[in-house]
Amino acid sequence: IPVEDFDLVIFGATGDLARRKILPGLYRRFLAGQMPPEARVIGAARSDLTDQRFRDDVRAAIDEFDAKADRSQLDAFLDQLHYVAIDAKGTGGWDSLRDMMRPGVVRAFYFSVAPSLFGDLAQRLSEYDIADQNSRIVVEKPFGRDLESARALNATLAEHFDEGQIYRIDHYLGKETVQNLMAVRFANILFEPLWNAQHVDHVQITVAETVGVGGRGGYYDQSGAMRDMVQNHLMQLLCLTAMEPPYHFDPNAVRDEKLKVIRALEPVAEDEIVRGQYQADGDQPGYVEDSENPESRTESYVALKVRISNWRWQGTPFYLRTGKKMRARTSEIVITFKEPPHSIFDDSGTQRANQLVIKLQPDEGMDLTVMIKEPGPGGMRLMQVPLDMSFADTFGPAGVDMPDAYERLIMDVIRGNQTLFMRGDEVEAAWAWADPIIAAWDGSKARPEPYDAGSSGPEEALRLMHRDNRRWREIRA
Ligand code: BG6
Repeated sequence: IPVEDFDLVIFGATGDLARRKILPGLYRRFLAGQMPPEARVIGAARSDLTDQRFRDDVRAAIDEFDAKADRSQLDAFLDQLHYVAIDAKGTGGWDSLRDMMRPGVVRAFYFSVAPSLFGDLAQRLSEYDIADQNSRIVVEKPFGRDLESARALNATLAEHFDEGQIYRIDHYLGKETVQNLMAVRFANILFEPLWNAQHVDHVQITVAETVGVGGRGGYYDQSGAMRDMVQNHLMQLLCLTAMEPPYHFDPNAVRDEKLKVIRALEPVAEDEIVRGQYQADGDQPGYVEDSENPESRTESYVALKVRISNWRWQGTPFYLRTGKKMRARTSEIVITFKEPPHSIFDDSGTQRANQLVIKLQPDEGMDLTVMIKEPGPGGMRLMQVPLDMSFADTFGPAGVDMPDAYERLIMDVIRGNQTLFMRGDEVEAAWAWADPIIAAWDGSKARPEPYDAGSSGPEEALRLMHRDNRRWREIRA
């Protein structure tokens, strides 16, 4: 879908996120023909750079972070890039930025900076008349570190922008299979009638990463997996899995339904959450080495049991887990259905529940396990087989160009579509749920459960499931 002409200003254009994701993502969209020839990307940061120097930096960033992208149109893309040195807290650069803005085109401002600067940027944009009614701002996580700070941030942004102009990014919403989850649920008749406590035994949501926390400065140690992953990414996955069908695929209809799920979450009991911290194993450093904080109690792993108190999900738990330095990088949502109420086969011992596995990464796809008769003359023996749909197999590795989450989300900003962005009330509700969990932990003297770097997480997390006669799906490479 073509997009309108735009001026996109990236604050923090020389920073890590811009170099790693935003600028390479824009080049990909340029290659896909989605950047009109007049459109401009204006980098803004503290350093004093010329347009040429900025373009050289972006070329280097694309070389570094998107080695596979076709280079033949890179010069044409770079010609559409400009730069302005800006002082977020002072007056420097703002007049120049205003003079660069063109009338009558979409204006978007991406705040790829520390959240402590969001307020200053918003204020300068209105003070200097740079933002108009049609402008959009894009803000990154972390959106606050608790309910109070998130509310304050929302209030500050609301002084200068309407909710319809604020695009809060959770990049998990831009992932291909996350959106596919909605297609599967709401574009098929098969699943929705079974998508409830009567037919679903439980749901597992796993986001396992192999990376550690080294090199992230103090951020992670002040944050931990609960704030870094659960309150946002896992919460979004939970909402899309559990929500009622929206009446339309429309920003507020979808976000209203997600909000209802968050509001229906029960408080999490202390014995239904497990926190872990990776410890050194072989040549792999442990969390305290990576964070350079020998006393740290910050969790690099969380597993918890979540209950949704509404008609659809009463009695069906959702188990969530996420961790750093795990055995493999796997993110998936697993819906385990109930077993048939009665077996007509003598071989009922081999009966297994149907499972729908939605694989988010690294290999996007879906798997539905079904019971069939074991082939051959051996009588009516049952076996479980996957009805497997891997996107790479179905569409061929080169058949689909799967846009990165950021590419898609930036283009949604230009198009003015907020469906895949978090609304202010949603973020606040998620903090209202997470805050007591975090406060209980902060108030206790307990240490996180240790787990070996490169393992499947702490033993305690296995027990969380075993207690309920269930087991986690294995984390496999
Ligand atoms: C970020 C977190 O939001 O998401 C990181 O701050 C995490 O800690 C990352 O590694 C995971 O994103 P992805 O897309 O690699 O799964």
